[in-house]
Amino acid sequence: MDLILLGPPGAGKGTQAKMMADRWEIPQVSTGDILRAAVKEGRPLGLEAKSFMDRGELVPDRVVIGIIGERLEEKDAAGGFILDGFPRTIPQAEALQEILAGLGRKISCVLSIEVEEEKLVVRLTGRRICRNCGQSYHLVFNPPARDGICGRCGGDLYQRDDDKEETIRQRLTVYREQTQPLVGFYESKNLLKRIDGSDSKEKIFSGIVEVVESDCRG
Ligand code: AP5
Repeated sequence: MDLILLGPPGAGKGTQAKMMADRWEIPQVSTGDILRAAVKEGRPLGLEAKSFMDRGELVPDRVVIGIIGERLEEKDAAGGFILDGFPRTIPQAEALQEILAGLGRKISCVLSIEVEEEKLVVRLTGRRICRNCGQSYHLVFNPPARDGICGRCGGDLYQRDDDKEETIRQRLTVYREQTQPLVGFYESKNLLKRIDGSDSKEKIFSGIVEVVESDCRG
């Protein structure tokens, strides 16, 4: 299954993608995670991407399209993948179609996770992430047992640079202007499945499982 998770910042794409990857044993491919890893390792890709990310802007299409083209050719994606955070613009969606056609594949479904904007701001300002293993927490909805410490590996928790309120608002504006048009793009191709993302993560996941297992496996 070749799946896309679409949704605004904080909709829960990363949270759901991890649960989906475990259930169907296909990789989560997150452009955000790939870019942050490149920043952390000081690679040229990271140096180019960092200023865009810190401002809440999108990294240029040619950069992320190149990343995805290489990533989807890797062995572990041969049996399917979950795209988390890609595509985010119409040119990215068109490039993805070409990449997949070149691999003799096509998108199975696009899951659009929908959550009202003020809830997104609360989710993102409260998010904390483990510096060591990447586990995500929320100060209110999913707090760590010990303040500032990851319950899984004992690592330090930190707040993403782009999770400050001003940058979150900018990311939401960018989403509305550049990414939301993809909802219509995929709807017109009969690939879009709408998911209510305002419930608990377990209930959202059950809804996703139902949709994917009945409509996206063909
Ligand atoms: P990226 O890392 O993709 O960020 P994003 O899309 O803004 O998404 P987030 O990771 O912020 O949110 P999410 O939907 O994954 O939510 P999560 O599950 O973490 O991109 C970052 C930047 O990289 C971009 O701004 C851009 O610069 C660049 N970039 C990336 N891809 C690009 C592309 N294709 N083109 C160009 N540039 C690109 O959940 C959020 C919080 O809510 C967590 O604390 C979680 O615990 C909590 N939570 C989750 N679900 C629930 C729930 N059901 N109830 C309560 N709390 C919940």
